[in-house]
Amino acid sequence: MTSEMWDERYATKEYVWAIEPNQFVKEHLTDLDPGTAIDLGAGEGRNAVWLASLGWQATAVDFSAVALEKGEKLAADHDVSVNFVQADATTYQAPEQVDLVVLSYLQLPADKQSVILEHAKTWVRPGGTLFVIAHDESNVADGYGGPPVSEVCYTVDRTVTALDGLDIVTAEVAERIVDTPDGPQTALDTLVIAKGPSESNN
Ligand SMILES: C[S@@+](CC[C@H](N)C(=O)[O-])C[C@H]1O[C@@H](n2cnc3c(N)ncnc32)[C@H](O)[C@@H]1O
Repeated sequence: MTSEMWDERYATKEYVWAIEPNQFVKEHLTDLDPGTAIDLGAGEGRNAVWLASLGWQATAVDFSAVALEKGEKLAADHDVSVNFVQADATTYQAPEQVDLVVLSYLQLPADKQSVILEHAKTWVRPGGTLFVIAHDESNVADGYGGPPVSEVCYTVDRTVTALDGLDIVTAEVAERIVDTPDGPQTALDTLVIAKGPSESNN
């Protein structure tokens, strides 16, 4: 989807996504010491705003101007400051290394996933964290919601391969329970968490 298509989608209602952080973001990142963070493909900023509320200096990058405007409102509503940057995730480069990079459901074709992950892993400072949560390919046939085609979904193996050089801490297909009018349904997500290798390992 182009940025114009995302702008149209974001213009349809107040918030397209939940305004709470993603459950895995919350579960795995709450205990990190706050530092600097980049949320790539940040959308309406739910994760970046949550990080900022914990004391992180968060930069939220997205190519949709409408999403970023909504993120600014969400940040203001939470009385936090987030640096919102309009940029294409496939070409964006972080100005300096950070303590945390978050990719949350940035669903792009596999070749673009590789480009983004190759870039993102160089932004993580030694000991820092790269966190990836995304609709898994297995979700198309066996899970709830998410893209109906596997082309823009992730796999754990491909994500781990792209993050070669980082220390992989978690690599799994995570089950996410979604409440629906028909009762709870299970969505299947790629969850990969990696650490920047400490300088003594280099
Ligand atoms: C499914 S939403 C996820 C938003 C947010 N990360 C979250 O978890 O709520 C995907 C986001 O990626 C953004 N996006 C898609 N392709 C992009 C690209 N090439 N560059 C920057 N942002 C992109 C879209 O504008 C959209 O906001």
